[in-house]
Amino acid sequence: MELTSSPPGDRTTAGVGDPFFFRCIDTACGSEFHIGEKLYQCPRCSDLLDVCYHFPQMDVGQLKKEFRTRRLTNDPLDVSGVWRYRELLPFRGDDLRHVVTMGEGNNPVLNAPISAQYVGLRRLRVKHLGWNPTGSFKDYGMTVAVSQARRLGSSVVACASTGNTSASMAAYCARVGLRSVVFIPEGQIAYGKLSQSLDYGALTVQIHGDFDAAMGLVRELARETDLYMMNSINPFRLEGQKTVMLELFDQLDWRIPDRIVVPGGNLGNSSSYGKALMELKELGFIDKVPRITIIQASGADPLYRTLVTSSADLVPVKGAWTLASAIKIGRPISWKKALRALSFSDGWCDVVTEQEIADAKAILGRDGIGCEPASATTIAGLKRLMNLRNQAESPVTIDPDEDVVAILTGHQLKDPEYTVNYHLDNLYEHASYQNVLIEKSGKLTATYSNKPVQVSADKAEIIRLLGLAR
Ligand code: F0G
Repeated sequence: MELTSSPPGDRTTAGVGDPFFFRCIDTACGSEFHIGEKLYQCPRCSDLLDVCYHFPQMDVGQLKKEFRTRRLTNDPLDVSGVWRYRELLPFRGDDLRHVVTMGEGNNPVLNAPISAQYVGLRRLRVKHLGWNPTGSFKDYGMTVAVSQARRLGSSVVACASTGNTSASMAAYCARVGLRSVVFIPEGQIAYGKLSQSLDYGALTVQIHGDFDAAMGLVRELARETDLYMMNSINPFRLEGQKTVMLELFDQLDWRIPDRIVVPGGNLGNSSSYGKALMELKELGFIDKVPRITIIQASGADPLYRTLVTSSADLVPVKGAWTLASAIKIGRPISWKKALRALSFSDGWCDVVTEQEIADAKAILGRDGIGCEPASATTIAGLKRLMNLRNQAESPVTIDPDEDVVAILTGHQLKDPEYTVNYHLDNLYEHASYQNVLIEKSGKLTATYSNKPVQVSADKAEIIRLLGLAR
């Protein structure tokens, strides 16, 4: 990706000298368009679009210092872990008045020693994006996308969602009185997430169908009406999510890790990390590129299937299924950008089973770190890759000394039923826990269960049970 100079391509619609513009990701097309157009895909060839920049000359060392200094101010733009890095975002000067921020970002990097031991690494750190205002990484992207909706003067925005995008969109829209509509697969999103979009006043439309059906519908509506789409096909979402990498490296004093592990669903997040790495490398912020490692659930693994078959087209998964409902997606929008991220960073995509996800989540819990099931795919994936590493056919070789950061994408309390059912030894691959239990099959083993104990309200008995000394 060229960042500093114009590539060949059609620049008729993008204004010459614009600091940022859309560009088609298909290098053979490369068409460019004005940032003020409501676009998600290339009008010429229908491929995805990037926001691209004519970056001015940057004193990278000085900017790194400036990022650090901004942490000490009370300016909302500096407090935000997204807008603090605004030199790499498509808003300048007066346009920053459109910004809607809730102090998103500022999420910690935590040592996870028990998880490290579990996966077989000497050290493992996690960056927990579940500590955001609405409890997931979506807030990094939503602050930018909703700000763009305001800049465009949109009157109604919408998204399809497995729950977190909708929660985040609803909150940011509520902040500025922007009408928002969420499309969710009925009965398939965790209650924590559903409760958020209801509370934040979004019109919540439950579709009789899965996420992929809801996504298709929203895309058609966005094409045919004035509705502005907030899914990660909207390039502005990915610009915000890009700053997760900036914040992470800033927190690590720009000592760049060897590997970044991230769950894969609709594949916006991993795509945005790839774009961040491309830009940071081009601009001279980093000279080392961490390997992006995407982990999918084995019942919802279209990127994995595409990668291992070297298919030129997406290999979709019909009726995708996983208890990690956030990533129950069979036809991810950003698959091409995710492949680009893997190719640029020499990364890989792998899959994990429901059992591996459930156990990994419980192990993370022992580190005092909660997360939602989709996030635990990262730990499960690391364990699987470490186990495979000595086998000849292993696609990835991870050294136990590697410096790895796992990205945890959502808060534990988004989906507490999953956690409770695991510890009660009552977690089934197929079951409805939100309403009445209508079916259950595929019981998972509660390998690391911490079952509650029942005891009568009797002091002596409790002292005996706990083995307390008087
Ligand atoms: N983790 C969590 C907690 C998520 O909510 C999602 C996606 C992902 C991982 C996967 O990220 O889609 O960028 O590859 N959730 C979307 C939603 C689809 O609607 O909330 P991705």
